[in-house]
Amino acid sequence: MKVSFSELDLKQLTKISQWITNGKWVEELIDICQGISLSVPNQEFPLIYAGVLLARNNQVDNAIKVLRLCQSSVFGKTLAEYLSETHSFSKRVKTFKEAKPYDAWMQTEIYQSIRAGVLEMVKHFAKQNPPHSLDEPTIIDIGPGNGILTVEIVKQLQQVYPLRGLHLILIEPSEEMMALAIQHCQASIPMPVQITPLCNCTLQSLTSKDQKIIQEHQPIWFINASLSLHHIPRELKVPNMEILNSISTSLLMTEIDENLEELEDGSPELIHTVNEIYSNAIQEVLNINSASVLDKKSCIDSFFLADAITVLKNIQELRVEHWISNSQWQDVAKYAGFKVVKTTPIVSSIPFFTLELKNQPTSDGLN
Ligand SMILES: C[S@@+](CC[C@H](N)C(=O)[O-])C[C@H]1O[C@@H](n2cnc3c(N)ncnc32)[C@H](O)[C@@H]1O
Repeated sequence: MKVSFSELDLKQLTKISQWITNGKWVEELIDICQGISLSVPNQEFPLIYAGVLLARNNQVDNAIKVLRLCQSSVFGKTLAEYLSETHSFSKRVKTFKEAKPYDAWMQTEIYQSIRAGVLEMVKHFAKQNPPHSLDEPTIIDIGPGNGILTVEIVKQLQQVYPLRGLHLILIEPSEEMMALAIQHCQASIPMPVQITPLCNCTLQSLTSKDQKIIQEHQPIWFINASLSLHHIPRELKVPNMEILNSISTSLLMTEIDENLEELEDGSPELIHTVNEIYSNAIQEVLNINSASVLDKKSCIDSFFLADAITVLKNIQELRVEHWISNSQWQDVAKYAGFKVVKTTPIVSSIPFFTLELKNQPTSDGLN
Protein backbone atom coordinates (compact mmCIF):
# COMPACT_ATOMS: atom_id res chain seq x y z
CA MET A 1 0.00 0.00 0.00
CA LYS A 2 3.00 2.21 -0.43
CA VAL A 3 2.13 5.53 -2.05
CA SER A 4 4.49 8.01 -3.57
CA PHE A 5 3.26 11.46 -4.26
CA SER A 6 4.75 13.29 -7.22
CA GLU A 7 6.39 16.66 -6.69
CA LEU A 8 3.32 18.23 -8.23
CA ASP A 9 0.98 16.42 -5.80
CA LEU A 10 3.10 17.54 -2.86
CA LYS A 11 3.05 21.11 -4.13
CA GLN A 12 -0.75 20.97 -4.34
CA LEU A 13 -1.02 19.47 -0.85
CA THR A 14 1.20 22.24 0.54
CA LYS A 15 -1.68 24.62 -0.17
CA ILE A 16 -3.59 22.71 2.52
CA SER A 17 -0.83 22.79 5.14
CA GLN A 18 -0.30 26.51 4.46
CA TRP A 19 -4.00 27.19 4.98
CA ILE A 20 -3.88 25.34 8.33
CA THR A 21 -1.30 27.82 9.67
CA ASN A 22 -2.63 31.02 8.06
CA GLY A 23 -6.17 30.43 6.85
CA LYS A 24 -9.37 31.90 8.24
CA TRP A 25 -12.51 30.47 6.68
CA VAL A 26 -12.85 26.71 6.51
CA GLU A 27 -14.98 27.09 3.33
CA GLU A 28 -11.82 28.38 1.65
CA LEU A 29 -9.97 25.24 2.73
CA ILE A 30 -12.77 23.03 1.41
CA ASP A 31 -12.52 24.84 -1.94
CA ILE A 32 -8.76 24.18 -1.99
CA CYS A 33 -9.35 20.46 -1.28
CA GLN A 34 -11.98 20.19 -3.99
CA GLY A 35 -9.82 22.15 -6.41
CA ILE A 36 -6.89 19.75 -6.13
CA SER A 37 -8.88 16.52 -5.76
CA LEU A 38 -8.56 15.60 -9.44
CA SER A 39 -4.83 16.10 -9.57
CA VAL A 40 -3.85 13.69 -6.76
CA PRO A 41 -4.06 9.85 -6.95
CA ASN A 42 -6.94 9.50 -4.45
CA GLN A 43 -9.61 12.16 -5.02
CA GLU A 44 -10.75 12.21 -1.42
CA PHE A 45 -7.27 12.33 0.04
CA PRO A 46 -7.07 16.18 0.23
CA LEU A 47 -10.09 16.12 2.60
CA ILE A 48 -8.52 13.42 4.81
CA TYR A 49 -5.19 15.21 4.84
CA ALA A 50 -6.84 18.54 5.72
CA GLY A 51 -9.09 16.92 8.36
CA VAL A 52 -6.18 15.22 10.12
CA LEU A 53 -4.00 18.35 10.05
CA LEU A 54 -6.89 20.40 11.47
CA ALA A 55 -7.47 17.85 14.24
CA ARG A 56 -3.74 17.82 15.06
CA ASN A 57 -3.93 21.61 15.28
CA ASN A 58 -6.81 21.51 17.77
CA GLN A 59 -9.30 22.83 15.21
CA VAL A 60 -11.70 19.99 15.92
CA ASP A 61 -14.90 21.70 14.70
CA ASN A 62 -13.30 22.49 11.37
CA ALA A 63 -11.89 18.96 11.15
CA ILE A 64 -15.42 17.57 11.58
CA LYS A 65 -16.78 19.86 8.82
CA VAL A 66 -14.09 18.75 6.39
CA LEU A 67 -14.11 15.03 7.23
CA ARG A 68 -17.91 14.88 7.00
CA LEU A 69 -17.55 15.59 3.27
CA CYS A 70 -15.81 12.22 2.79
CA GLN A 71 -18.00 9.85 0.77
CA SER A 72 -15.79 6.80 0.34
CA SER A 73 -13.09 6.92 3.03
CA VAL A 74 -14.39 4.77 5.89
CA PHE A 75 -11.61 6.13 8.09
CA GLY A 76 -12.53 9.76 7.29
CA LYS A 77 -16.22 9.19 8.00
CA THR A 78 -15.54 7.29 11.23
CA LEU A 79 -13.07 9.88 12.47
CA ALA A 80 -15.63 12.65 11.80
CA GLU A 81 -18.16 10.75 13.93
CA TYR A 82 -15.63 10.11 16.72
CA LEU A 83 -14.59 13.79 16.82
CA SER A 84 -18.17 14.99 16.96
CA GLU A 85 -18.85 12.66 19.92
CA THR A 86 -15.68 13.37 21.88
CA HIS A 87 -14.73 16.90 20.71
CA SER A 88 -11.15 15.85 21.18
CA PHE A 89 -8.50 14.30 18.95
CA SER A 90 -7.20 11.98 21.65
CA LYS A 91 -7.67 8.40 22.63
CA ARG A 92 -10.25 7.60 25.28
CA VAL A 93 -8.85 4.31 26.56
CA LYS A 94 -5.51 2.56 26.84
CA THR A 95 -5.27 0.06 23.98
CA PHE A 96 -5.70 -3.58 25.15
CA LYS A 97 -6.46 -2.51 28.75
CA GLU A 98 -9.93 -3.91 28.14
CA ALA A 99 -10.25 -7.26 26.42
CA LYS A 100 -13.75 -6.94 24.96
CA PRO A 101 -12.98 -4.65 21.98
CA TYR A 102 -10.63 -7.32 20.59
CA ASP A 103 -13.48 -9.86 20.23
CA ALA A 104 -15.07 -8.16 17.21
CA TRP A 105 -11.71 -7.97 15.39
CA MET A 106 -11.29 -11.72 15.90
CA GLN A 107 -14.53 -12.31 14.00
CA THR A 108 -13.42 -10.45 10.89
CA GLU A 109 -12.54 -12.24 7.66
CA ILE A 110 -9.07 -10.77 7.79
CA TYR A 111 -8.45 -12.22 11.25
CA GLN A 112 -9.64 -15.64 10.00
CA SER A 113 -6.96 -15.46 7.28
CA ILE A 114 -4.33 -14.49 9.87
CA ARG A 115 -5.41 -17.34 12.14
CA ALA A 116 -5.18 -19.84 9.27
CA GLY A 117 -1.69 -18.51 8.40
CA VAL A 118 -0.48 -18.85 12.00
CA LEU A 119 -1.79 -22.42 12.33
CA GLU A 120 -0.23 -23.44 9.01
CA MET A 121 3.15 -22.05 10.14
CA VAL A 122 2.87 -23.88 13.49
CA LYS A 123 2.05 -27.17 11.73
CA HIS A 124 4.97 -26.77 9.31
CA PHE A 125 7.36 -25.92 12.15
CA ALA A 126 6.18 -28.73 14.44
CA LYS A 127 6.57 -31.41 11.75
CA GLN A 128 10.18 -30.38 11.15
CA ASN A 129 11.08 -29.74 14.80
CA PRO A 130 9.85 -32.34 17.31
CA PRO A 131 9.80 -31.35 21.00
CA HIS A 132 12.58 -32.73 23.22
CA SER A 133 9.93 -34.64 25.20
CA LEU A 134 6.23 -35.43 24.83
CA ASP A 135 5.68 -34.98 28.57
CA GLU A 136 5.66 -31.27 29.16
CA PRO A 137 7.55 -29.23 26.56
CA THR A 138 7.62 -25.47 27.20
CA ILE A 139 6.49 -22.86 24.72
CA ILE A 140 6.32 -19.10 25.15
CA ASP A 141 3.52 -16.94 23.76
CA ILE A 142 4.27 -13.22 23.57
CA GLY A 143 1.15 -11.04 23.71
CA PRO A 144 -1.39 -13.90 23.79
CA GLY A 145 -4.28 -11.42 24.17
CA ASN A 146 -7.38 -13.31 25.29
CA GLY A 147 -5.66 -16.68 24.66
CA ILE A 148 -8.06 -17.90 21.97
CA LEU A 149 -5.30 -18.21 19.37
CA THR A 150 -2.93 -19.73 21.96
CA VAL A 151 -5.41 -22.56 22.53
CA GLU A 152 -5.72 -23.16 18.79
CA ILE A 153 -1.94 -23.29 18.44
CA VAL A 154 -1.74 -25.91 21.18
CA LYS A 155 -4.51 -27.95 19.54
CA GLN A 156 -2.57 -27.78 16.28
CA LEU A 157 0.54 -29.13 18.06
CA GLN A 158 -1.57 -31.97 19.48
CA GLN A 159 -2.55 -32.96 15.95
CA VAL A 160 1.12 -33.47 15.13
CA TYR A 161 2.34 -35.08 18.40
CA PRO A 162 0.59 -37.08 21.16
CA LEU A 163 1.66 -34.57 23.82
CA ARG A 164 0.96 -35.70 27.40
CA GLY A 165 1.14 -32.18 28.83
CA LEU A 166 2.42 -28.69 28.12
CA HIS A 167 4.06 -25.81 29.93
CA LEU A 168 3.06 -22.37 28.68
CA ILE A 169 4.88 -19.15 29.53
CA LEU A 170 2.71 -16.13 28.73
CA ILE A 171 4.17 -12.63 28.43
CA GLU A 172 1.32 -10.13 28.43
CA PRO A 173 1.19 -6.51 29.71
CA SER A 174 -2.61 -6.26 29.99
CA GLU A 175 -3.90 -7.70 33.25
CA GLU A 176 -7.39 -8.20 31.84
CA MET A 177 -6.08 -10.00 28.73
CA MET A 178 -3.78 -12.18 30.84
CA ALA A 179 -6.60 -13.24 33.18
CA LEU A 180 -8.74 -14.23 30.18
CA ALA A 181 -5.84 -16.05 28.50
CA ILE A 182 -5.16 -18.13 31.62
CA GLN A 183 -8.85 -18.91 32.06
CA HIS A 184 -9.29 -19.87 28.43
CA CYS A 185 -6.14 -22.03 28.27
CA GLN A 186 -7.10 -23.87 31.45
CA ALA A 187 -10.67 -24.45 30.29
CA SER A 188 -10.04 -25.36 26.65
CA ILE A 189 -6.71 -27.19 26.32
CA PRO A 190 -7.58 -30.90 26.43
CA MET A 191 -4.50 -32.08 28.38
CA PRO A 192 -2.67 -31.10 31.57
CA VAL A 193 -1.27 -27.62 31.12
CA GLN A 194 0.94 -25.68 33.48
CA ILE A 195 0.89 -21.90 32.97
CA THR A 196 3.57 -19.45 34.02
CA PRO A 197 2.19 -15.93 33.54
CA LEU A 198 4.70 -13.09 33.34
CA CYS A 199 2.16 -10.39 34.15
CA ASN A 200 2.07 -6.69 33.63
CA CYS A 201 5.15 -6.81 31.50
CA THR A 202 5.95 -6.06 27.91
CA LEU A 203 8.70 -8.03 26.22
CA GLN A 204 11.01 -5.02 26.50
CA SER A 205 10.44 -4.70 30.24
CA LEU A 206 11.13 -8.32 31.27
CA THR A 207 12.99 -8.22 34.58
CA SER A 208 16.02 -10.34 35.42
CA LYS A 209 13.67 -12.33 37.67
CA ASP A 210 11.40 -13.04 34.68
CA GLN A 211 14.40 -13.99 32.55
CA LYS A 212 15.58 -16.34 35.31
CA ILE A 213 12.15 -18.02 35.37
CA ILE A 214 12.41 -18.53 31.62
CA GLN A 215 15.94 -19.95 31.92
CA GLU A 216 14.75 -22.43 34.55
CA HIS A 217 12.37 -23.90 31.98
CA GLN A 218 14.91 -24.49 29.24
CA PRO A 219 14.77 -25.90 26.64
CA ILE A 220 11.97 -23.78 25.17
CA TRP A 221 10.53 -25.64 22.17
CA PHE A 222 9.62 -22.38 20.38
CA ILE A 223 8.38 -18.84 20.93
CA ASN A 224 5.20 -17.65 19.26
CA ALA A 225 4.52 -13.94 18.72
CA SER A 226 1.30 -13.22 16.79
CA LEU A 227 0.65 -9.54 16.13
CA SER A 228 2.61 -8.44 19.19
CA LEU A 229 6.17 -7.60 18.12
CA HIS A 230 5.11 -4.49 16.15
CA HIS A 231 4.32 -2.91 19.53
CA ILE A 232 8.04 -2.70 20.25
CA PRO A 233 9.54 0.66 19.27
CA ARG A 234 11.92 0.54 16.34
CA GLU A 235 15.18 1.13 18.26
CA LEU A 236 14.33 -1.70 20.66
CA LYS A 237 13.50 -4.28 18.00
CA VAL A 238 17.02 -5.69 17.47
CA PRO A 239 17.95 -5.94 21.20
CA ASN A 240 14.64 -7.65 21.97
CA MET A 241 15.00 -10.07 19.07
CA GLU A 242 18.48 -10.86 20.45
CA ILE A 243 16.90 -11.72 23.78
CA LEU A 244 14.41 -14.01 22.04
CA ASN A 245 17.25 -15.63 20.12
CA SER A 246 19.03 -16.41 23.39
CA ILE A 247 15.87 -17.95 24.88
CA SER A 248 14.84 -20.42 22.17
CA THR A 249 16.17 -21.86 18.93
CA SER A 250 12.95 -20.96 17.08
CA LEU A 251 10.70 -17.94 16.82
CA LEU A 252 7.40 -18.01 14.93
CA MET A 253 6.10 -14.54 14.26
CA THR A 254 3.12 -13.04 12.44
CA GLU A 255 3.02 -9.38 11.55
CA ILE A 256 1.54 -6.67 9.39
CA ASP A 257 3.62 -6.01 6.27
CA GLU A 258 3.60 -2.23 6.43
CA ASN A 259 6.12 0.41 7.22
CA LEU A 260 5.15 3.36 9.36
CA GLU A 261 8.47 3.95 11.01
CA GLU A 262 10.19 5.71 8.13
CA LEU A 263 7.30 7.99 7.31
CA GLU A 264 7.70 11.54 8.51
CA ASP A 265 5.43 12.82 11.26
CA GLY A 266 2.38 14.59 9.73
CA SER A 267 3.49 13.81 6.15
CA PRO A 268 1.00 13.06 3.34
CA GLU A 269 2.55 9.57 3.00
CA LEU A 270 1.92 8.74 6.68
CA ILE A 271 -1.65 10.10 6.66
CA HIS A 272 -2.34 8.26 3.37
CA THR A 273 -1.07 4.92 4.78
CA VAL A 274 -3.09 5.31 7.98
CA ASN A 275 -6.21 6.17 5.96
CA GLU A 276 -5.85 3.12 3.69
CA ILE A 277 -5.09 0.55 6.39
CA TYR A 278 -7.59 1.73 8.97
CA SER A 279 -10.33 2.18 6.32
CA ASN A 280 -9.90 -1.51 5.44
CA ALA A 281 -9.71 -2.62 9.08
CA ILE A 282 -12.82 -0.63 10.09
CA GLN A 283 -14.72 -1.89 7.04
CA GLU A 284 -13.88 -5.48 8.04
CA VAL A 285 -15.41 -4.89 11.47
CA LEU A 286 -18.51 -3.22 9.98
CA ASN A 287 -18.97 -6.27 7.72
CA ILE A 288 -19.32 -8.75 10.62
CA ASN A 289 -22.87 -10.07 11.02
CA SER A 290 -22.45 -11.77 14.36
CA ALA A 291 -21.48 -8.76 16.54
CA SER A 292 -23.80 -6.08 17.93
CA VAL A 293 -23.56 -2.49 16.71
CA LEU A 294 -22.24 -1.49 20.14
CA ASP A 295 -19.51 -4.13 20.15
CA LYS A 296 -18.40 -3.11 16.66
CA LYS A 297 -18.29 0.53 17.74
CA SER A 298 -16.29 -0.29 20.83
CA CYS A 299 -13.78 -2.25 18.72
CA ILE A 300 -13.46 0.56 16.17
CA ASP A 301 -13.19 3.39 18.74
CA SER A 302 -10.98 1.88 21.38
CA PHE A 303 -8.85 -0.29 19.16
CA PHE A 304 -8.46 1.16 15.64
CA LEU A 305 -9.17 4.87 16.13
CA ALA A 306 -7.19 4.93 19.38
CA ASP A 307 -4.19 3.41 17.57
CA ALA A 308 -4.53 5.64 14.53
CA ILE A 309 -4.73 8.78 16.68
CA THR A 310 -1.51 7.97 18.54
CA VAL A 311 0.24 7.45 15.21
CA LEU A 312 -1.21 10.61 13.66
CA LYS A 313 -0.38 12.72 16.74
CA ASN A 314 2.93 10.89 17.18
CA ILE A 315 2.74 10.84 20.96
CA GLN A 316 5.65 8.51 21.62
CA GLU A 317 4.69 7.54 25.18
CA LEU A 318 1.18 6.51 24.08
CA ARG A 319 2.02 5.16 20.64
CA VAL A 320 1.52 1.41 20.34
CA GLU A 321 1.97 0.82 16.60
CA HIS A 322 5.52 0.57 15.25
CA TRP A 323 4.99 -1.36 12.01
CA ILE A 324 7.86 -2.32 9.76
CA SER A 325 7.71 -4.34 6.55
CA ASN A 326 8.45 -8.05 6.12
CA SER A 327 11.84 -7.37 4.53
CA GLN A 328 12.74 -4.98 7.37
CA TRP A 329 11.74 -7.65 9.91
CA GLN A 330 13.98 -10.12 8.12
CA ASP A 331 16.88 -7.66 8.38
CA VAL A 332 16.18 -7.14 12.10
CA ALA A 333 16.05 -10.92 12.60
CA LYS A 334 19.36 -11.41 10.81
CA TYR A 335 21.05 -8.69 12.89
CA ALA A 336 19.76 -10.49 15.96
CA GLY A 337 21.36 -13.76 14.82
CA PHE A 338 18.36 -15.57 13.34
CA LYS A 339 18.13 -17.14 9.92
CA VAL A 340 14.92 -17.10 7.93
CA VAL A 341 13.45 -20.58 7.44
CA LYS A 342 10.23 -19.60 5.72
CA THR A 343 8.01 -16.60 5.16
CA THR A 344 4.48 -16.73 3.78
CA PRO A 345 2.27 -13.79 2.85
CA ILE A 346 -1.26 -13.76 4.25
CA VAL A 347 -3.58 -12.66 1.50
CA SER A 348 -6.21 -10.23 2.76
CA SER A 349 -7.32 -6.61 2.45
CA ILE A 350 -4.36 -5.61 4.66
CA PRO A 351 -1.00 -7.30 4.00
CA PHE A 352 0.23 -9.62 6.79
CA PHE A 353 2.83 -12.41 6.78
CA THR A 354 4.17 -15.26 8.86
CA LEU A 355 7.89 -15.65 9.46
CA GLU A 356 9.62 -18.75 10.81
CA LEU A 357 13.05 -17.98 12.26
CA LYS A 358 15.75 -20.27 13.53
CA ASN A 359 18.73 -19.57 15.68
CA GLN A 360 21.85 -19.22 13.51
CA PRO A 361 24.70 -21.15 15.13
CA THR A 362 27.92 -19.11 15.19
CA SER A 363 30.95 -20.38 13.27
CA ASP A 364 32.48 -21.80 16.50
CA GLY A 365 29.34 -23.91 16.97
CA LEU A 366 28.07 -21.91 19.97
CA ASN A 367 24.61 -20.32 19.93
C1 LIG B 1 -2.98 -7.46 18.55
S1 LIG B 1 -3.02 -8.34 20.07
C2 LIG B 1 -2.61 -10.00 19.56
C3 LIG B 1 -3.27 -11.05 20.40
C4 LIG B 1 -3.04 -12.49 19.92
N1 LIG B 1 -1.65 -12.85 19.93
C5 LIG B 1 -3.59 -12.63 18.52
O1 LIG B 1 -2.82 -12.80 17.58
O2 LIG B 1 -4.81 -12.57 18.38
C6 LIG B 1 -1.50 -7.81 20.78
C7 LIG B 1 -1.28 -8.33 22.19
O3 LIG B 1 0.08 -8.03 22.54
C8 LIG B 1 0.11 -7.40 23.82
N2 LIG B 1 1.28 -6.49 23.81
C9 LIG B 1 1.30 -5.17 23.49
N3 LIG B 1 2.55 -4.70 23.58
C10 LIG B 1 3.34 -5.74 23.95
C11 LIG B 1 4.73 -5.88 24.22
N4 LIG B 1 5.55 -4.85 24.08
N5 LIG B 1 5.21 -7.08 24.62
C12 LIG B 1 4.36 -8.14 24.74
N6 LIG B 1 3.03 -8.07 24.49
C13 LIG B 1 2.53 -6.89 24.11
C14 LIG B 1 -1.23 -6.68 23.94
O4 LIG B 1 -1.59 -6.43 25.29
C15 LIG B 1 -2.16 -7.66 23.24
O5 LIG B 1 -2.67 -8.62 24.11
